[in-house]
Amino acid sequence: MNGADSDSIEGMLLSLGMEKATNGTADLVLYNTCAVRDKAEHRMVSELGEVAKAKRLYPSMKIGILGCAAESLRPSLENRHYVDLIQDGKDLEEMKEAVLTLLPDEIELTPDVLSTHRAGHLSGMVPVIRGCSYMCSYCIVPRTRGLQRSRPLEEILQETEACLDKGSKEIYLLGQNFLAYGRDLREGLKPEEMVRAVHDAFPECRRIRFLTSHPHDVTRSFLEVLSSLPRVAPYFHLPFQSGSDAVLKAMRRITTRAVVEKKMGWIREIWPQASISTDIIIGFPTERASDFDDTLSLVDSLDLDFAYSFLYSPRPQTRAWEMGDPIPHTEKVDRMTRLQDLLGSIWSRKNAQWIGNTVSVLVEGPEKSGKANRFTGRSPSWHPVHFTSDIDPTGTFVDVKIERSGKTSLGGVHV
Ligand code: 5AD
Ligand code: SF4
Repeated sequence: MNGADSDSIEGMLLSLGMEKATNGTADLVLYNTCAVRDKAEHRMVSELGEVAKAKRLYPSMKIGILGCAAESLRPSLENRHYVDLIQDGKDLEEMKEAVLTLLPDEIELTPDVLSTHRAGHLSGMVPVIRGCSYMCSYCIVPRTRGLQRSRPLEEILQETEACLDKGSKEIYLLGQNFLAYGRDLREGLKPEEMVRAVHDAFPECRRIRFLTSHPHDVTRSFLEVLSSLPRVAPYFHLPFQSGSDAVLKAMRRITTRAVVEKKMGWIREIWPQASISTDIIIGFPTERASDFDDTLSLVDSLDLDFAYSFLYSPRPQTRAWEMGDPIPHTEKVDRMTRLQDLLGSIWSRKNAQWIGNTVSVLVEGPEKSGKANRFTGRSPSWHPVHFTSDIDPTGTFVDVKIERSGKTSLGGVHV
């Protein structure tokens, strides 16, 4: 979501004739920030120290802090005299208006300056719903981003078109709570109806993805519609956070382990080609060793393709904040290691099953290793694929025959 907002702000500034700075003498420095875990906040604060030094050498520099940490850290940011703007991320248009106040007078604003502006990116990010109305006890999002607001279909279609016009080859439909889409709209559109409308309106768009979903809201109808849309990539990110009912209750997740198992079962039944990933929080304050064992057993039984795990980070003004952070860091890290070991063995086995298959890869660019004729992209199932090719296929879809597999990626050759 932050990437999508930054993209839109960047596009607006470029359309006004500004250029991306390549050294420390930028006229304008913007941070679009995350507050989901304290690590992201700390990183921003420490970088801010560096920018403050640059501003001492180049006093006309303007510094703006946008997004969730602008809200969560507001009092401490207000004490920093070198910060020119503190603007929360609840509303993109308000963010853009605030950024415009930092521009020098000689920059002439165009009448349509606030309407959708996009920097060209291979993957076009289209937010379909902002904020979240759930109240998971560990999560700061409802406070920093506000309650859920679905965007009307017309706006989503316009923005998708703008991304495709600027050269995006795939579209990500984004929401903190994607499957709640439409509940707050008068016309009561369902998420599957919205995805279908985007799919049908842009036959030239070869790949559509959606993120991120709550197990509570997975319906058979959503799965039936998505599995029938050929250009929706077969990949489902479904965070369950914990495998213990006691922890799920304390997290106020409104789902039990049985519900998670049932919904995962529906995905396997109705959309069997879809790969599945999840998010897991390790070391929630009430998580006993036996609760964590429940998480391991759930992970083991679900045969997940990917999982993102995070050490619990207490967030001020959330319900869980009062519970403190009683689990020692070393214990959290130990649990993380056990989870990673289990996931590593699942992935080694699962990824090997791709060998011999040919997959369509959207090529992001040369491989980071810098080796000649090596490129990287993602398969429809979201696997990173590293492959050899005689031509440079960056920015296009190519077929890659899978010849090797690792824990977190696949390897092959352009065919
Ligand atoms: N501590 C650690 N992880 C968190 N997440 C959300 N809030 C916290 C927190 N306080 C994780 C959840 C969510 C992902 C985006 O971030 O797993 O799905
Ligand atoms: Fe946060 Fe997701 Fe829960 Fe919403 S559903 S409160 S964004 S964890």
